[in-house]
Amino acid sequence: MLSKTLLDEMNNQIREELYSAYLYLAMAAHFEEANWPGFASWMTKQAAEEQEHAMKFFSYIHDRGGKVTLQAIAQPPASFGKPVEIFEQVLQHEQKVTARIHLLYSIAVKDNDYASQHFLDWFVNEQVEEEKNATQVLEWLKMAGDSVNALFQINGLLARRE
Ligand code: FEO
Repeated sequence: MLSKTLLDEMNNQIREELYSAYLYLAMAAHFEEANWPGFASWMTKQAAEEQEHAMKFFSYIHDRGGKVTLQAIAQPPASFGKPVEIFEQVLQHEQKVTARIHLLYSIAVKDNDYASQHFLDWFVNEQVEEEKNATQVLEWLKMAGDSVNALFQINGLLARRE
């Protein structure tokens, strides 16, 4: 059985993952509106991944006999800055998610909950990937500066995300 602390934090994590999906969907809407389909497609896929992350916690809590309690999801921002600023936000957001996953892990260690540690290993690795991806696009955007040509190229690269 999950400890109450870990169960509560996993329920909080469902909210955080769904907020991530909401945030990236808001960014996707911004890019759609701004006619950057590659950026929009990347964000839409990112939003879908975040929903999958939430569902992993949803299933795991049930697998361990716990109760899922869904919470209110905060409203994401309605307006955004330049692409470089948006990817700064993405990276900062993912760093916060990483800190949350590490918090969950530390609770599972304190609880001697080996199953939860094993479950959370996937998320620890995923966060390395998430931060790496956000950093890569951010670095490209920094290099691009105000070059519209370079932005078009990045837009094309992001459109290819699987
Ligand atoms: Fe679910 Fe982007 O972390």
